[in-house]
Amino acid sequence: MKTIALALILATGLAIAPAESSEAIQRGRRTFAQQCASCHSSHSANSLAGPGLKGYYTTHRPKPSDASVRTVIVKGKGRMPAFGTLGSARTDELIAYLKTL
Ligand code: HEC
Repeated sequence: MKTIALALILATGLAIAPAESSEAIQRGRRTFAQQCASCHSSHSANSLAGPGLKGYYTTHRPKPSDASVRTVIVKGKGRMPAFGTLGSARTDELIAYLKTL
């Protein structure tokens, strides 16, 4: 009986976790469309005002870290304005979304 209960808890936990993270990604996608897409393409590496971010996490060298991307978003970089006012939850969602590109 204990084993079944444990298995149920584990199964429910696994079922919920990806759903939550995909919601975070959806919110990140919306924020990106509103705040970032005017300067960054999400579907190519071609530059607009800023570099295209398709494949940014998988192909960019040096490999981006969450901390370095967070710093760029919060403080800005070069001609990119700072987005510190987004707050840490929305910044996390943006990072989760960028990883899917
Ligand atoms: C006004 C145009 C503009 C907007 C809006 C903008 N960026 Fe940028 N972004 C840039 C430019 C220009 C660079 C290149 C900065 C440099 O290297 O000097 C850049 C660079 C970046 C980089 C790469 C940094 C690196 O060095 O590899 C990331 C990641 C990034 N932006 C994410 C975002 C996100 C997420 C948003 C939305 C919150 C956003 N940007 C909004 C213009 C913009």
